[in-house]
Amino acid sequence: MEFKFTEENLKRLENEIKKYPVKQPAVMAALWIAQEQNGWISGEVMQEVASILNMTNEDVLGIVTFYTMYHQKPMGKYHVQVCTNVSCMLRGGYEIFDQVKQKLNIGNMQVTGDKIFSLEEVECMGSCGTAPMIAVNEDYYENLDKGKVEQILNSLKDRN
Ligand code: FES
Repeated sequence: MEFKFTEENLKRLENEIKKYPVKQPAVMAALWIAQEQNGWISGEVMQEVASILNMTNEDVLGIVTFYTMYHQKPMGKYHVQVCTNVSCMLRGGYEIFDQVKQKLNIGNMQVTGDKIFSLEEVECMGSCGTAPMIAVNEDYYENLDKGKVEQILNSLKDRN
């Protein structure tokens, strides 16, 4: 399905492009804005970004596949990212990852049947001092234990 930025998002992208002497360095921002709008980075999104920034589709694909923050398939409304890197691991990151897997009944990079949740095991998200942590979309939840994780997931589910 064809992808076009909304008028508002196109303005945001133009502001990003203005920050650089050439268009290409705005590719990360362009993909982020596109993902916010579309939910994931489809082939059509990559084509549109490439066309606006005068890049090849292959160049854009290289960025999308290198950075894990870009989703190459549709994810849930709430994308739960559980850090299992060293600081979080030492403070129960894997237990939390297992807890979320069991609670949502999905594995890594899977989406629940109702498309409300998806799960991703991630590397350090820069919040080691408040480990263990998870992120849901762009919101961080820190200093977690199993009870807090249960509460977070329940309250997200209740919003639907
Ligand atoms: S190790 Fe988990 S946020 Fe750094």
